[in-house]
Amino acid sequence: MPDGANLGLGCGNPTAIAGLQPGETVLDLGSGGGFDCFLAAKKVGLSGKVIGVDMTPEMIERARDNARRGGYVNVEFRLGEIEALPVADASVDVVISNCVINLVPDKARVFREIARVLKPGGRIMVSDMVLERPFPDWVRESAQGYVACVSGAVLREEYLRLITEAGLQGAEILEERDASDFFMDPKDPLVNQLLVGHPVEDIRGLVSSVSIQAFKPQSRSCCG
Ligand SMILES: C[S@@+](CC[C@H](N)C(=O)[O-])C[C@H]1O[C@@H](n2cnc3c(N)ncnc32)[C@H](O)[C@@H]1O
Repeated sequence: MPDGANLGLGCGNPTAIAGLQPGETVLDLGSGGGFDCFLAAKKVGLSGKVIGVDMTPEMIERARDNARRGGYVNVEFRLGEIEALPVADASVDVVISNCVINLVPDKARVFREIARVLKPGGRIMVSDMVLERPFPDWVRESAQGYVACVSGAVLREEYLRLITEAGLQGAEILEERDASDFFMDPKDPLVNQLLVGHPVEDIRGLVSSVSIQAFKPQSRSCCG
């Protein structure tokens, strides 16, 4: 794994539980430095392919540089927004994503895009942050909360509902853990700024890190 590929910004390990098979085409939403793409690339092998999409040119450049240095020839990074994926219809076997969809305001659009690019019978395995109950307003409105990947998070029931409304089936949480410590680290200056003047009890136990699986049905009528 090239130095700098792991930004330490993920909230799970989607490739570990995605059951990736040689020859599959994998799409990583919000690929950052490319860490999960490189893990996936090893699993799908040279007969497979991995595409990473990220909206920041700096991340794309960093990921491409990591791919060059690591000799990954079956990985491609594309600049774009996950709300309007630069990926053809019905062309992907597996969509993975690690701690990104919670950052996007229009999550319904992201899941519709996922449903569009998946092949019939394809699957998603995303790791993300979900809420166990609504955040207090002071967290939702906080820029620091956004940076800590929390204030855009929605309730777990809403997250699962958005997946289902996009036409995907069998949405199920396969792994979960309490993630309150993610944004309550007293050594993190951003977190300290966020908490100034507010009781920690307000947010303790409110956010979980989950890995969610779902499938695109085989039926041609699904998902546009
Ligand atoms: C928390 S980091 C996670 C990076 C990577 N998945 C990892 O685990 O290291 C979020 C990444 O998603 C990208 N991102 C955020 N919103 C996005 C959007 N709407 N479209 C595409 N990329 C986005 C950011 O540029 C950043 O690289």
